[in-house]
Parts: sequence; C-alpha cells; structure tokens
Amino acid sequence: MNELKITSKFTVYNNNSELSKQDNELFIKAIEARSKAYAPYSQFSVGASLLLNNGTIIQGNNQENAAYPSGMCAERVAIWSAASQYPDAKILKIFIVANSSTPNIDKLVSPCGACRQTIAEYEFKQSKNIEIFFSGETGKIIKANSLKELLPFTFDNSFL
Ligand code: THU
Repeated sequence: MNELKITSKFTVYNNNSELSKQDNELFIKAIEARSKAYAPYSQFSVGASLLLNNGTIIQGNNQENAAYPSGMCAERVAIWSAASQYPDAKILKIFIVANSSTPNIDKLVSPCGACRQTIAEYEFKQSKNIEIFFSGETGKIIKANSLKELLPFTFDNSFL
C-alpha cells in the first residue's frame, strides 16, 4: 500500500495592483457584474467575467429564485452565456469576485463544486487550461492555472 499525495499550485496577489493590465481589466468587469447580481435571498453577490480567445469579455452574476434551488451561480451564468454565444471560442480566463451583507469580506470565495465541474467540462472540450482567479471583496487574489488545481481526479468525458 502506498500513500498518494496531491499538491496544488496557486499564484497569490496581495491586491489587484499586482495584476497585469489585462487581468485587472477582467477583475473590473467581474466587479461590475457583481454589482448587477440578483441575490435578494442570500445577500451574497457574486460576479464572474471570462476572457475568450476572440478577445470578448463575457460577464455573469448569480441569479436567485424564490424556489431556492432554481437559482444559479455567477460562474455558470457566465460560462453558459459564453458557450451559447461563441460555441467555438476558447475560454482563457475566469475572474470571480464576491461580496456579502458582511462588509469587506476578505475570505477567498472559490467556485462551488458544481461550478468546478462545469469549468472542467469546457477545459476538457477546448483542450486548453482555463486560468481561474478568485477573491473576496477585499484582500488577496488567488490564481489557479487550471481547474485541475481545484479539482483533482476530475471526471470528464474521457471516461465515457
Ligand atoms: N454562488 C455563486 O454565484 N458562485 C459560487 O461559486 C458559490 C455560490 C452564489 C449562489 C447563491 O446565489 C449565493 O452565492 C449564496 O450561495
């Protein structure tokens, strides 16, 4: 019997001033998307922005529903919007930001399990890694170079 140890690698930015110009632009678009979130039930607003390889930036935010499970996360709103409008484009990066009724949350808000699985689908489909940036309202920003850093042993269509 052996032990298998899996490690993940991330880049940590102290704040957005350490981002490249292009990544900071994506950060600003995610904040803009967050400001339009529809989150009356959780008061937890999430914004996501994607950079496609055709240069387009797509935004999404969480959309809640009185029937709670009918709501949707910001990441999947953005990804499916991109996939439905530009089915042949590759997603290069996704930026995720969140805020809540608690002012200035500095916790790193990482994508939920279902959103990770959705990002995995498109990473596999396009045979290209997707850079994933995430942060709270303030504080540090984390970048993973690929979804694989967040979801080892990913299930994808190579098993089917
Ligand atoms: N939410 C997201 O939009 N993305 C995530 O990755 C985590 C959670 C939303 C869903 C719901 O509207 C609110 O945050 C609280 O869970």
